[in-house]
Amino acid sequence: MTGDVTARAAWLRAEIARHDRAYYELDAPTIPDAEYDRLFRELQALENDHPALSTADSPTRRVGGRPLAQFAPVAHDVPMLSIQTETDTDASGALNFDARVRRELELGESDPPVDYAAELKFDGLAVSLRYEHGVLVRGATRGDGTTGEDVTQNLRTLRQIPLRLAGAAGDIPPLLEVRGEVYMRRDDLDRYNAAAAARGDKTLVNPRNGAAGSIRQLDPAIAAGRPLKFFAYGIGAVDGWKLPETHSGLLDALAAFGLPVCEHRAVLAGGDALAGFHRQIAALRGELPFDIDGVVYKVNRLDLQARLGFRSREPRWAVAHKYPPQEALTVVEAIDIQVGRTGALTPVARLAPVFVGGVTVTNATLHNADEVERKGGLCIGDTVIVRRAGDVIPEVVGVVAERRPADARPFAMPAACPVCGAHVVREPGEAVARCSGGFSCRAQRIQAILHFAGRRMMDIDGLGERYVERLVEFGYVHGVADLYRLTLDDLLEMKRRADERDNGAGDSETGLPVTGDAADPSRGRLVPEPGATDGIVGETLRAGQVPTRWAENLLAGIAASRTPKLARLLFALGIRHVGETTAKTLADWLGSIDRVRRAPAPLLAVLPDIGATVAAAIADFFSEQRNLDAVDALFAAGVAPADAHAPHPGLAGRLDWAGLYAALGVPRLTPVRARQLAAVADGERLLAGLPENHGLPAEVAAELAAWLADPVHRDLLDRLAGLRGELLAALPAAGQGAAAASAVSGKTFVLTGTLPTLSRDAAKEMIEAAGGKVSGSVSKKTDFVVAGEAAGSKLDKAQALGVAVIDESGLLNLLEQGEEQ
Ligand code: IVH
Repeated sequence: MTGDVTARAAWLRAEIARHDRAYYELDAPTIPDAEYDRLFRELQALENDHPALSTADSPTRRVGGRPLAQFAPVAHDVPMLSIQTETDTDASGALNFDARVRRELELGESDPPVDYAAELKFDGLAVSLRYEHGVLVRGATRGDGTTGEDVTQNLRTLRQIPLRLAGAAGDIPPLLEVRGEVYMRRDDLDRYNAAAAARGDKTLVNPRNGAAGSIRQLDPAIAAGRPLKFFAYGIGAVDGWKLPETHSGLLDALAAFGLPVCEHRAVLAGGDALAGFHRQIAALRGELPFDIDGVVYKVNRLDLQARLGFRSREPRWAVAHKYPPQEALTVVEAIDIQVGRTGALTPVARLAPVFVGGVTVTNATLHNADEVERKGGLCIGDTVIVRRAGDVIPEVVGVVAERRPADARPFAMPAACPVCGAHVVREPGEAVARCSGGFSCRAQRIQAILHFAGRRMMDIDGLGERYVERLVEFGYVHGVADLYRLTLDDLLEMKRRADERDNGAGDSETGLPVTGDAADPSRGRLVPEPGATDGIVGETLRAGQVPTRWAENLLAGIAASRTPKLARLLFALGIRHVGETTAKTLADWLGSIDRVRRAPAPLLAVLPDIGATVAAAIADFFSEQRNLDAVDALFAAGVAPADAHAPHPGLAGRLDWAGLYAALGVPRLTPVRARQLAAVADGERLLAGLPENHGLPAEVAAELAAWLADPVHRDLLDRLAGLRGELLAALPAAGQGAAAASAVSGKTFVLTGTLPTLSRDAAKEMIEAAGGKVSGSVSKKTDFVVAGEAAGSKLDKAQALGVAVIDESGLLNLLEQGEEQ
């Protein structure tokens, strides 16, 4: 081994330690990760080749050694004491402590206040780190205070713990034991748990167990994989070091050695200031990234600490002043399912009442099925940890697996909505399960009716939230169709009942508080709140008259919505994933609600901008009988779209079997294979079996045969073929159109500006389907420029070159001409 190698190893160690410190303590990385890894690997290689080079403070030690058979006991030269606890969570905890200290120090009323170091009480695991000549040689748990366990290997994996103290050699004591807390941040725990759950590993119940459990693992690789952190808060044995005069000075010195010391600390004079600190930290508690269960006050001057001394195993100079617990154990008595206004199914744990975070908690949301799984497959009967931090909604943070009773019942998401019985859907990749009942589900009724009536949907003037709530509540409206059967008498009766119930509190007609003179009906004027849009307001009333204008207006609004545009009606139905644009595509391309509702998902998926998820959601909506009934009820109540029309001429180009096959979702049937299949069999033919000459690879053919064997799939294919034929026959000029000779075939088009109904992509597709070409720029070779609104320079150029300029209807005419030929 040459001196060069030794020097290089020393340099690498110092360099890595410097970057570690920058990264983990100062939070200011100095080099890219890859560069750091390179240094690290170089050092590992050197130490492997020359084992004599390996030192106790080498950063390579952080990546764990061999698993241990058991931990060796460590006798603490200076015992690790416990701390007296002040359990009154109000100011008296601080005042009592101060009074006690003053008494013990025999201070009189006229003596100045005592200085205290105030800090946080971290909720983790106490450890002691032994540095000899600045090098970390041993780390131990507290154990019983006198004897702990040697967990050096595990503690070395914490990057925040320096393996060598920082500072000039002359300042480093020959012996220094640092005492502090290993903890885990809550966000680190959540991230760790999410990754662990994804890997199928066990998750950690809470940060404290996470920290304590990780340090007490025999295999250091486990600790190395956990996001552990450390705060120093004191010292144990020391030798050859001139101690600072105060505890706060001591913490400053530890920080200067490169040890992490929490920034939330203060030196305060007297009991009132301590009480103030307690309050201030209470307010901050919810925002801290880690858990604390109180604050700690320590007499700041070390000489006074020595004078005060100990009582049994607790120092007289320190106290922990607690906060109400944020976590408690309780039992899950039941798991109910709530159906939200949007149809989301939420499991809610009904809990045996438990006092936590200052309130009695009796239930907690479990969010969704994945969360239940993440919580260790929560069962009814399980004992769970409930947490309520600050004003945050109580949550179940974990299950105490050891306490699961033999008769615990596992939880499963129901297959049918507990409110309406419609089937429950959970889309791939979605955490939330939803009721498919849509506006036919009672839980979703109010939301669905409001959506239905919305401005961009059926645009029912005057039908605001309060009216909808009352119409539903008093049973006048069960589904949207009932709106169209409401009479003036219904509305007036509803108002009377609402008035009776509200017993004169506020004005039930508008839901607004009655202001000023309005309380006197003879002079009353209803004063709308600024920005109020709900309800008809401002009607002047004379004594004894029943106000009816609001009701007449509402009925008129409802009546006016009877003949909506098809796209608005489709949007109004509240089909998941169907917004304004998709509704318009459906209306433009299929032309009637009847065709939309009979369209199987693969047919919908070949329409422009409709992907598999959206197509599946639409088909799913119309597969639910309740939704079909609701749509029928609308028609029966006289609602009819004003603009039903023949399917879009461009459909001819989209209904080729190759595209439809590719959208079927048959495994391995890629677009290329789908085209190959379409060349030998159309849908009707395929229903009779895969033709001999299919030419598909054996695996593809096998998947296809298996798919075709399922009656559900055969039914789908059958319906698809049926509707396809029907649509083609119903096209404005029945013909297969595609690339047949036409007015469009072989011609070059340039699109410019915004067309009134067709998107640019749709226009392009239609032109191409009819054998035309779409180009980006105008030249003499251009046959037609299709100009929409705000057409720019291309239009100018077309005119300059004498190229024919047409609008959207001109284009549609050309397309139709082609099909007639
Ligand atoms: S000082 C002489 N300071 O509380 C007092 N302890 O019973 C020795 N703890 O598990 C402890 N935060 O790990 C001190 N800022 C803090 C603390 C703290 C948490 C824990 C400690 C031990 C318990 C003491």
